[in-house]
Amino acid sequence: MSTSTTASSDRQTLQVSRHVRFIQELDTKKDDLFYWLSEHLRLNGVYWGLTALALLGQPDALDRSDVIDYILSCQHASGGFGGHLGHDAHLSCTLSAVQVLVMLDALDRVDCDKIAEYVARLQDPETGAFMGDHWGEIDTRFSFSAVACLSLMDRLSVVDVDKASEFVLACQNPDGGFGSIPGAESHAGQIFCCLGFLSIVDRLEYVDVDTLGWWLCERQLGNGGLNGRPEKKEDVCYSWWVLSSLSIIGKLDWIDRDKLVAFILRCQDDESGGFADREGHYPDVFHTLFGIAGLSLLGYDGLNKVDPVYCMPLECIKQLGLHK
Ligand code: FPP
Ligand code: ZN
Repeated sequence: MSTSTTASSDRQTLQVSRHVRFIQELDTKKDDLFYWLSEHLRLNGVYWGLTALALLGQPDALDRSDVIDYILSCQHASGGFGGHLGHDAHLSCTLSAVQVLVMLDALDRVDCDKIAEYVARLQDPETGAFMGDHWGEIDTRFSFSAVACLSLMDRLSVVDVDKASEFVLACQNPDGGFGSIPGAESHAGQIFCCLGFLSIVDRLEYVDVDTLGWWLCERQLGNGGLNGRPEKKEDVCYSWWVLSSLSIIGKLDWIDRDKLVAFILRCQDDESGGFADREGHYPDVFHTLFGIAGLSLLGYDGLNKVDPVYCMPLECIKQLGLHK
């Protein structure tokens, strides 16, 4: 975070051009150790950056054909996508790849049936749960990733949606929240995944929305920021995981909007652009997307609207007929 004397009022408004430049320059930071340490997240990073740019109203700020070529270069013969050239295929990268191709209207460049077969092979027929990759880790993040990816390609019917729903509903806790596997504690990131999953498969009626709404709005701390679980610190990415969850259950007005907007804006880097997880930390593209997407859900002036389930521009999801 900059220590410059930029007027504090600068941080009270969204620094659009600085954020656009921050995202455009991400691929030039090759003398930064973090650039190499985060190689496995490069494809996810393209999704985070491109979505942030689209919400900022600058969808063409990255070269379309370069982005498509890069995404295609990460695909394996299995149909799945890896996090970067030479990295193993993973469901979360496959979702990001499909999201980017949808946003760039380039889904015709891939074989959607092959991608759908890859996703279907990751479902456990016994429990309905999804693995992230062939190593077998099971988590509600992957249940969401599977149905989000398939629905964007209009291929939901290749998996057992009833079994998949049984698994997700078995992860619901008495506090109204959801965890990563049955019996695991409620966590706002997993709650987003489970609500997103249930929205896509039209089973939101099984959610105890009042109990969950309370749990979610109790995530707001005195400084306006949101945490992901009780006793944890505030973090800009939870402006997305918590807010999108509240939005999906129709309770966005249960938190203090103005205090949250002010918290998110304080986490901008007023010199380099980008958002950090909290004030005074270094910015990164992950928190940049979720800060901007959170502001979008809060109706921040001048931003394009985001879809709370797919975390993609609302217009794009509406055009596909997927907005609920
Ligand atoms: C917190 O993780 C976030 C989650 C568990 C949700 C992750 C969601 C996905 C991978 C699905 C794809 C998402 C989108 C928006 C399309 P963390 O590891 O930072 O948790 P911590 O704060 O407890 O460390
Ligand atoms: Zn975070």
